Amino acid sequence: MQRRTYLKTMLAGAGALALPAAAQGSNALAGCIKHTDPSKYRLYHSHQNPGYMACQYPSLLVSSDLTTNLFFLDRCRIMPGGGVGHHFHNRCEEMFVILGDEAQFTIDGRTSAIKGPAGAPCVMGHSHAIYNPSSKPIEFLNINVSAVKGRYDAFNLDDARAGVPLDPIPVFMTMRLEKELLQPVKDYLGGQGTVRYRRALHPEIFRTNWSYVDHLLLPAGASEGRHRHIGVEEVYYVMNGTGEVQVNEETTAIKKGDAVPVLLNKVHSFRNNGSQDLELMIIGIATQKWVLDTEEVK
Ligand SMILES: [Fe+2]
Repeated sequence: MQRRTYLKTMLAGAGALALPAAAQGSNALAGCIKHTDPSKYRLYHSHQNPGYMACQYPSLLVSSDLTTNLFFLDRCRIMPGGGVGHHFHNRCEEMFVILGDEAQFTIDGRTSAIKGPAGAPCVMGHSHAIYNPSSKPIEFLNINVSAVKGRYDAFNLDDARAGVPLDPIPVFMTMRLEKELLQPVKDYLGGQGTVRYRRALHPEIFRTNWSYVDHLLLPAGASEGRHRHIGVEEVYYVMNGTGEVQVNEETTAIKKGDAVPVLLNKVHSFRNNGSQDLELMIIGIATQKWVLDTEEVK
């Protein structure tokens, strides 16, 4: 099913952030890492919202990038007055994430203004929307995991949720990614130094095999040690900073805006070899609901 109808490809020069050229190596790992690139953003109307979204095309990650049930990872901007119209999915679940600023999130027809970095998971069979009432774009991710590999559905409500009443306290689940919530962990998974970590969303949140979202901050010089998961695939999204990833015997550089897919049983580790904090959001998707495993590898 085609998810979008694109209208224009006119973001260049419209305030798009020009990111440095991708740090591509010659190894296969470097080729698997997807880079946020605003020059590839396209304007479109999402789920009947009359305002604009600007999303990288093709998606940062698509279903074929993982063997588990990730359907897509989209990297976008919510343009002023734009958003994603109110809609349902009945065989996939989704989470809108804003990387800063403030947006109006709707779940099941109730709306609250939420400051980023934050998200709101929407499980299967419930409705969701997001709206940007401000005068500047909001940096945005959309994560979608399906119940059946590669299968998508949507039921649109033709409602932009603009100008609706706001609940001061959200009456739906949210994912907060404030650094202050992180807890120190020494020698994380056999790595070096002390990282700061928090499981932001647990398996109980989701109906599909989407199993968790972790928030991990590696200070300069710190690392997440070598480990693997037999039954879980992960996507590491770089929220801030630079560093390097090793998968099996290959190593390559990563930077803000990169998405790193880690497939089943791949030995992987992340290291901050930069001077600023390396901040990661980790999306975990299992082959079997409730079955999670982690094995440290020396
Ligand atoms: Fe959706």
